[in-house]
Amino acid sequence: AGVALPGVVAAKCGARVILSDRAETPPCLENCRRSCDANGLGGVAVLGLTWGEVSPDLVLLPELDIILGSDVFYEPRFEDILLTVAFLLRMNPRAQFWTTYQERADWSIEALLQRWKLSCVEVRLDTFGADRPELAGSSLPGSHSVLMM
Ligand SMILES: C[S@@+](CC[C@H](N)C(=O)[O-])C[C@H]1O[C@@H](n2cnc3c(N)ncnc32)[C@H](O)[C@@H]1O
Repeated sequence: AGVALPGVVAAKCGARVILSDRAETPPCLENCRRSCDANGLGGVAVLGLTWGEVSPDLVLLPELDIILGSDVFYEPRFEDILLTVAFLLRMNPRAQFWTTYQERADWSIEALLQRWKLSCVEVRLDTFGADRPELAGSSLPGSHSVLMM
């Protein structure tokens, strides 16, 4: 979650949201709560869920429609994330995982998608008006454009 912007926006739009961040970093969970407070969101649960760990809190999640992962593929420890995503999609066969990411290096999740029997499609930002430079661009060196799948 970090500052939890996508989840906070979803909650402001009326979605029932559960925010999560790494269970071992309570300050991150506190940041999520502070974001909720700052935005007048009283009913948003915040859970410590660590990618790659099948914990009681993960197993006991209610039914999910959408799993949001915004900028979670930023370190090449992708299998932990995909394990958690694969688990949640098995538990919620009609759910989808939506993720935005930056191409920071020539890392790829293709082999891991095959291993975890997952498939993905690119969601072009221009299909929902999000391809504007002030949203998806970056002045940092290298390719830092935002992509979505
Ligand atoms: C780049 S930030 C995402 C920022 C977020 N999109 C936002 O709007 O604030 C990546 C997040 O992943 C979390 N994270 C890192 N390792 C994790 C792990 N093993 N399990 C769960 N979350 C983890 C970090 O604590 C951080 O909040």
